[in-house]
Amino acid sequence: MSEYNSEISGFYNLSIKKRRKLLSKLIKFNEDEIKLLENLGYFSESQIDTFIENVIGSYQLPIGIACNFKINNKDYLIPMVIEEPSVVAAASNAAKIARKHGGFHSENVQSVMISQIQITNLKKIEDVKKKLEEHKETILKSANENDPLLVELGGGAFDFEVRELKTRKGDMLIVHLLVDVLDAMGANVVNTMAESISPYIEEISGGKIYLRIVSNLATYRVAKCEATFDKDLLGGREVIEGILNAYEFALADPYRATTHNKGIMNGIIALTIATGNDTRAIESGAHAYAALSGQYSPLTKFEIDSDGNLVGKIEVPLALGIIGGMTKLHPMARLVLKILNIKTANELSQVAAALGLAQNVAALRALASEGIQEGHMVLHSRNIAKLAGVPENMIEKVANKLVQDKKIRVDYAKEILRRMQNNENL
Ligand code: MEV
Repeated sequence: MSEYNSEISGFYNLSIKKRRKLLSKLIKFNEDEIKLLENLGYFSESQIDTFIENVIGSYQLPIGIACNFKINNKDYLIPMVIEEPSVVAAASNAAKIARKHGGFHSENVQSVMISQIQITNLKKIEDVKKKLEEHKETILKSANENDPLLVELGGGAFDFEVRELKTRKGDMLIVHLLVDVLDAMGANVVNTMAESISPYIEEISGGKIYLRIVSNLATYRVAKCEATFDKDLLGGREVIEGILNAYEFALADPYRATTHNKGIMNGIIALTIATGNDTRAIESGAHAYAALSGQYSPLTKFEIDSDGNLVGKIEVPLALGIIGGMTKLHPMARLVLKILNIKTANELSQVAAALGLAQNVAALRALASEGIQEGHMVLHSRNIAKLAGVPENMIEKVANKLVQDKKIRVDYAKEILRRMQNNENL
């Protein structure tokens, strides 16, 4: 393919069909590729064109169900959207192990979001702080005028905190507007409120306001969940010892803590995508929370109880919504909520936390015993066989041989296929 010029003016104004046509001229799609782009799945053309800009098609991922979850005595089937093999099975296994001792226990998750307002160019910070306090009622009232329905339902802005920051551009005051967003993820509502009250705050402070935006470090929206994982089902004392050692490793080492938390996010993000929520908000919030102490740390904690079972706890901010944005517009996200059988954002966050904990235990258990590659590779081997062009009816056989010989590679799959087709002894 020859190189192309990426400067295309007016791409945004074209219809999806015209965008594809234009791209096709540049990239020379074949018929199959055009069909791929034309397949919008369950989206209509007009619907998908409004989600983001410059749309040319839709992108699909598998959705699987994690079974066995019991959270606060209620059973859940959890839809997960993820490209990585073994993750769904691992979550289901860990949930089964937790079930023996009653499953997961989660606290309620408040739906409180923080919107930050950055006031600069201040002369007497203490005076400004006092003034803000004096005008609190007016500020909150004016914030809430943006969303009367939210207020009617029991939510809305209810307080603010003021933080002082020393920066290279001088001292700043940061107002944290606290808003109960109820069942929404909340970024839109708190951004609107912060923007609308800023002129008033600017006036009474005598400073200059720059940023007015949600903080994705949702410290008032932290999910806390725990479960007891049966020692025998986990694989015995030695496996638990391995898990506790893995935990200490993560506590002491950010390199390991990052991967430890990645395992947790395998679950949480898969549910975040499935419900049409903002994965980047969840991901950045979780990692910032993990680093709040100054050392990047694991989001879970482990100990053993008096019977030798493993007790796992997770604490993670989860700004997940069930209304607004994609959560309502995406037909599959709506179906996901039906499968989950949940009615509130609070409940969704509890499920996500339990899933993250389960995922972490499953990963640590595998790492502390047989390692994760074996399970991973069995699934992976089928994909490798497909990539090598193995016909459908021979995939299982070729994949088994790849695993048996511990050579899960496309070139080896091709060789095995050739030898099988030539009836050679394997
Ligand atoms: C792989 O997606 C996740 C793990 O690396 C997590 C971990 O190491 O704890 C297995």
